[in-house]
Amino acid sequence: MIPSKVTNIACIGAGYVGGPTMAVIAQKCPHIKVTVVDINEQRIADWNDTDLDKLPVYEPGLDQVVAEARDRNLFFSTDVENAIREAQMIFISVNTPTKTYGVGKGMAADLKYVELCARQIAEVATEDKIVVEKSTLPVRTAQSIRTILDASPARPLSSSPAPRFSVLSNPEFLAEGTAVKDLHNPDRVLIGGDEDEDGQRAMNALVEVYANWVPRERILTTRIWSSELSKLTANAFLAQRISSINALSALCEQTGADVDEVAHAIGTDSRIGPKFLKSSVGFGGSCFQKDILNLVYLCRHFNLPEVADYWEQVVKLNDYQKHRFAKQIIDTLFNTVSGKKIAFLGWAFKKDTNDTRESAAIYVADELLQDRAEIHVYDPKVTEERIFADLEYLQQHRSNSCNSSEFVQLDPALIRNLVTVHNDPYEALKDSHAIAVLTEWDEFRAYDWQKIYDAMRKPAFVFDGRNILNREELKRIGFEIKGIGKG
Ligand code: NAD
Ligand code: UGA
Repeated sequence: MIPSKVTNIACIGAGYVGGPTMAVIAQKCPHIKVTVVDINEQRIADWNDTDLDKLPVYEPGLDQVVAEARDRNLFFSTDVENAIREAQMIFISVNTPTKTYGVGKGMAADLKYVELCARQIAEVATEDKIVVEKSTLPVRTAQSIRTILDASPARPLSSSPAPRFSVLSNPEFLAEGTAVKDLHNPDRVLIGGDEDEDGQRAMNALVEVYANWVPRERILTTRIWSSELSKLTANAFLAQRISSINALSALCEQTGADVDEVAHAIGTDSRIGPKFLKSSVGFGGSCFQKDILNLVYLCRHFNLPEVADYWEQVVKLNDYQKHRFAKQIIDTLFNTVSGKKIAFLGWAFKKDTNDTRESAAIYVADELLQDRAEIHVYDPKVTEERIFADLEYLQQHRSNSCNSSEFVQLDPALIRNLVTVHNDPYEALKDSHAIAVLTEWDEFRAYDWQKIYDAMRKPAFVFDGRNILNREELKRIGFEIKGIGKG
């Protein structure tokens, strides 16, 4: 029978979602054993490291949560099969990146990792189980998962009936950098399931898990397709707001309006609200672009080209914004950055995370490298290895997908020649012709900007891609400062 109460949970995928989400479930539910498994041995070793600074995911407060629950009822392991066998409820929390090959290349979500999980569960499970989609998935994926699970291999030596499975959708809404806060105090938890008896039992079991710390009125239960689609929709709406304000930032620059003042003026209308109206060099992160492209792909698949075009524009505008920022740097530096030292403050896609996936910094750097700039990067949490991996991945990815004749593929040796990563921000900034602020890390505001000015080449330019610095103060010191959407 599908369990109506669980005491043993497994999660496949120990990444930015699986790790923090399960750590909080384990912290809040000491009576439930939670095992997070991954095929990446290094990742699991890092989650088990006694030095909490080595956790593979940097999130404020996560180290304390892990310290409290790990080895009590929270375990990290590479033994995927055993975790599946023992658990009554299995979360699938693996990556679902945009496809880089074949049908749907560049648009559709690549579901091969999810499919592999479903096949493995089908092969290993001997008892009835609840399978929870935690990864972000296209609407109707539960149908495919169910088909794979129900076709679980025959067990010729076993006289017991094939196990039954109930599939739930439980998308995750945490944002990186605030994951622990978001998980402790979510606006809502969304659970979608089937309307039959098994579906209801499974939904109740998951509601009971969250009810250990989330008020019941914030736990929403829906039909499974609504839940799957709501996740893509939520990300599309959030990204749309950023692209809307970024579109207006271009107009602000032409007209002398200030985008922050415009955002404040419209955001105080309670119908619009103030959140997600911060103009920037462009949104990054592993999900906004991928989820919108997936939505666009789905709309085209269902023959809704007008709807697809509408959402695709959100991503196009974001590409335009990153390009606009890079072009502003080149134009301002007298039409070439060749041989000039450009210091990058920040590489992560937002503050308080070490995640760099789809970070605007990667695209801006690439565009400046095309013109042979010398880039010096400082980020408080991102490693040198990661930065080079990001730039090299983009070269391969672009050569597969981009037909722009302006961009050439850069050799890894050339990238290593032109890019230097620093552990000390003042070293990165020294002797630079210009500074580009790519991430809104709080520490950047507190720097000694007079000292930085004195050590720079003149005229000393600052391109504040996050509008975080004190413009008046920097101007007084002598900087030429340009922001996003500042006339
Ligand atoms: P991630 O890449 O950080 O982690 C995924 C992990 O799954 C990796 O460690 C990988 O090794 C592991 N994995 C892949 N296939 C496996 C298999 N067959 N068996 C065991 N382990 C396997 O990805 P993430 O950022 O945690 O995202 C996971 C999902 O959650 C995605 O669908 C994403 O869209 C969604 N999501 C992410 C966020 C976020 O903030 N990152 C927020 C909400 C939702
Ligand atoms: C986003 C959503 O906020 C989460 O709800 C969702 O769960 C997650 O995607 C996901 O599905 O992965 P995340 O990408 O971690 O979370 O971070 P956000 O705070 O949404 O920021 C995304 C990007 O938008 C960042 O580059 C950020 O700097 C940028 N941003 C955000 C702006 O440029 N302006 C804003 O006003 C807000």
